[in-house]
Amino acid sequence: MLVFAGNANPALARAICDYLVLPLGGAVVKRFPDGELDVKVNDDVRGADTFIVQPTCHPVNENLMELLLLIDCLRRASADRVTAVLPYYGYARKDRKDEGRVPITAKLVANLIATAGANRVLALDLHATQIQGFFDIPVDHLFAAPVLVNRFVDEDPDKLVIVSPDVGSIKLARAYSKRLHASLAVVDKRRVSAEQTESDFFIGDCQGKKVLVVDDIIATAGSVCQAALLLRDHGATEVHVAATHPVLCGPAVERLSQAPINSITVTDTIPLPEAAQCLPLHVVSVAGLLGEAMRRIHMNESVSHLFTT
Ligand code: R5P
Repeated sequence: MLVFAGNANPALARAICDYLVLPLGGAVVKRFPDGELDVKVNDDVRGADTFIVQPTCHPVNENLMELLLLIDCLRRASADRVTAVLPYYGYARKDRKDEGRVPITAKLVANLIATAGANRVLALDLHATQIQGFFDIPVDHLFAAPVLVNRFVDEDPDKLVIVSPDVGSIKLARAYSKRLHASLAVVDKRRVSAEQTESDFFIGDCQGKKVLVVDDIIATAGSVCQAALLLRDHGATEVHVAATHPVLCGPAVERLSQAPINSITVTDTIPLPEAAQCLPLHVVSVAGLLGEAMRRIHMNESVSHLFTT
């Protein structure tokens, strides 16, 4: 078993290797003077079971291209099996044609990964679970909720409300509410543009309660900040946020720093920007979860008991 990583999140790759008690494989990403990328793997991989840890986060196109080059490199070097470990799957939000003459980028990226030579994929909290079906190779899809929920297990369930910031995250919120035995509420969110959302109504009761807003992604942070304002208006005493992927792009840090949010718990699928240090952030690691899944894939053991939300 050999584990490699591109430049997207080497710290997570090292933490996974620590869990597996393995050294991180030697891979160098170089750049030609015209900007083209090139990679070189230093270890002998002939006949090996190989894993590439590479979230396709910012800079998305660079990190995706590094991933594709690494897969191609391992395949041509006669690795027995190449598993693309995608802690964060970028381009996932374009998963259908919602108007004429637009691409389905989530499908295109799945095609690129399989065509490059990946034999299987290990993903975590895909933005839409149906993206698993965009791949014609096996996909193991894990959920970070069991890791994120740990910070809240000591909360009094009668004084806690789990909130979905939009209808799309209800299933995720229900999983948290079941684990924490807390009630559930839903915000009615409308997306005005890629950066702007509006949230005027919500279904549920948070008067005098602590709320935990849960989502898969914090991108521009419009969704969670709008939800926080609405929930405070409806009498929430504290607003906490838990999300798997801290994309934190555009105005996210500024919005979060001004929002009435007490704490933000995220995972280490994506490295945090420097500017995020001013936020009340708690980072929990998914290295053990991913490492355990990789160990089981390598040993041909069942991974399904790790699939629980
Ligand atoms: C929406 O479908 C997702 O679950 C997230 O709520 C959304 O992607 C977050 O985006 P933003 O932080 O830009 O509002």
